[in-house]
Amino acid sequence: MNELEGVEVSEAQIAVHWREEEKFYPPAQFIAQANITDHEIYERFSLKNFPECYKEYADLLTWYQYWHTTLDTSDAPCWKWFVGGKINASYNCVDRHLPQYKNKAAIIHVPEPEDEPHVVLTYQELYVRVNEVAALLRDFAGVRAGDRVTLHLPMVPELPITMLACARLGAIHSVVFGGFSGKACGERIADSGSRVLITMDGYYRSRKLLDHKSKSDTALAVAKEEGQAVDKVLVWRRHRGTYVSPAPMVAGRDYLMEDVLGDYVGTRVDPVPMPAEAPLFLMYTSGTTGRPKGCQHSTGGYLAYAAGTSKYVQDIHPEDVYWCMADIGWITGHSYIVYGPLALAATTVMYEGVPTCTDAGRPWRIAERLAVNTFHTAPTTIRMLRKAGPEEPGKYSYQFKHMTTVGEPIEPEIWRWYYYVVGKGTAVIVDTWWQTETGGFLCSTMPAIQPMKPGSAGPGVPGIYPVIFDEDGSEVEIGSGRAGNICIRNPWPGAFQTIWGDRERYVSTYYAKYCRDRNSVDWRDWPYFAGDAATQSEDGYFRILGRVDDVINVAGHRLGTKELESASLDVSEVAEAAVVPVTDEIKGRVPDVYVSLRPGVEPSEAIGNAVAKSIETSIGKIARPKHVYIVPDMPKTRSGKIMRRVLAAISNGRDIGDVTTLANPEIVDEIRRMVQG
Ligand code: PRX
Repeated sequence: MNELEGVEVSEAQIAVHWREEEKFYPPAQFIAQANITDHEIYERFSLKNFPECYKEYADLLTWYQYWHTTLDTSDAPCWKWFVGGKINASYNCVDRHLPQYKNKAAIIHVPEPEDEPHVVLTYQELYVRVNEVAALLRDFAGVRAGDRVTLHLPMVPELPITMLACARLGAIHSVVFGGFSGKACGERIADSGSRVLITMDGYYRSRKLLDHKSKSDTALAVAKEEGQAVDKVLVWRRHRGTYVSPAPMVAGRDYLMEDVLGDYVGTRVDPVPMPAEAPLFLMYTSGTTGRPKGCQHSTGGYLAYAAGTSKYVQDIHPEDVYWCMADIGWITGHSYIVYGPLALAATTVMYEGVPTCTDAGRPWRIAERLAVNTFHTAPTTIRMLRKAGPEEPGKYSYQFKHMTTVGEPIEPEIWRWYYYVVGKGTAVIVDTWWQTETGGFLCSTMPAIQPMKPGSAGPGVPGIYPVIFDEDGSEVEIGSGRAGNICIRNPWPGAFQTIWGDRERYVSTYYAKYCRDRNSVDWRDWPYFAGDAATQSEDGYFRILGRVDDVINVAGHRLGTKELESASLDVSEVAEAAVVPVTDEIKGRVPDVYVSLRPGVEPSEAIGNAVAKSIETSIGKIARPKHVYIVPDMPKTRSGKIMRRVLAAISNGRDIGDVTTLANPEIVDEIRRMVQG
């Protein structure tokens, strides 16, 4: 067989090889106040105490009915946690804090326009708003426990309010990232079977008031094509009293939340006690095939895990002002802006716009003004802020005690800027590795216990037992320097329950690869396959190298190469398309698109632009390609498979290797000249 055949490009293959880094120790001041300072935690969460150890996380919550079985494996690998328990997530994030904290800020919203006042929702105010929206959803929109509700909302206070209102009713929210296109939203509406869409007229991004409502019209048309009818579109307004979208409200279908809410002022809705294993939400993520996967997260297990890791890894205390700069439309925002911090009665800050609006000092002004002490962001943002204003943090007198990085590997040089300049050398950093599917952190140092190592996520967090397997399922030795597939040996409460409506895909994508016995109900036979390549050094720290599948992690957001390729093929002149990750100074990775044209079609700039445009309309601006190259032909194996690995090597200026066995080796040089000059 041809040596190259079947070898696809992966991010891991283009990962830089870093040297061993020096360690940084947590400051004494941090340790003095930390939630966890004792190594004994690893004993409590040892495998011999598994799964009962997770009682410690579940006990952070208030249950209507305590569970009888910590982990039920009878339907492996669909794990059920805290079986028999009844709980409500909205109650746990809001109501139960009222006696002690009703007058404390729960959510502080910072609008992008700097002259617009912040919105401060106390726990009492959050309680009132969540109840009113829950009443509206129940009595006006007919939403019941178990129904799916799609939220296509930007970073506004109405987003967490609506999420918590759904949770109050036991309805399953599916938040679609606001930057996603109407088409992407429509596909998710259809897949989840939502009858209700909640959206907004517009929002601010880079100093522009963007139209958002018109996306709902596209979304509904796409959903309808796929057989899903939506009865009601509920529209929040960015500015009370003014409607900023050019898209008309459709009579009998679209309703302004402001108008309808008038009927529910002061209404209270009892939280619905839900079984622990009832789904709390769906979060769609990209996979190897075109269709996004609806990761289904549970109520009890997920909330326990989000709360536990927020307390121990994020070191959140109720008196902290915590700011995570992610978007709630991604899993980070669900777990570590909304559910984790609010379950712990912290103050959580949310910011509407781009970090550098109007200049690179903006985040540090926000931190100073709100006295943020716990900060959370992604390497892509750190790179951007470092480039735009390397000296800016020093001009402001905020003081962080704790900082998080998440979503992609962080280069040690960027890590050090984060540590010395943003953290002023006095804050700990946790580099947290996890995924949409995992609900919460998998690898990280425990901030007061272990030293930090730039570029390494750290060991498994308490109760998580990672292992690196090679392709044959043998364990890769610690400290061998060899990379392999990082897996988790054991289930944990935050893990997703299944892919919505597609159990087979859930099993085959995440559990089939290293399953020892398909009929087993013993969790030891079902390691979780994460789809990332990693190495583990002598000290037990894991370094994540990137995705091993057809997924590109752009600025910390997952995009399926197949989704981009299929959008490229929507341009009628395009015959074939191949998408590969290319390294980018700010975003980490971005897509490069290669297309070949139908016979007789002449290459033109217009076609390249049409491809980029098609990707933007079909997915969203975050998927915008770095380049679109129109090539005379794709490098192919003799069996006709496009060699993305070769294209990735060209895009990244790496060694292409031996291509003599390709069906058309001569094309490789031609493409290389075209790309590299
Ligand atoms: O490749 C890993 C990378 O992001 C992927 C998960 O993306 P997503 O589901 O969108 O969730 C992002 C936020 C949790 C992983 O498979 N990744 C995530 N965190 C890290 C990371 N890569 C390196 N270091 C991290 N800390």
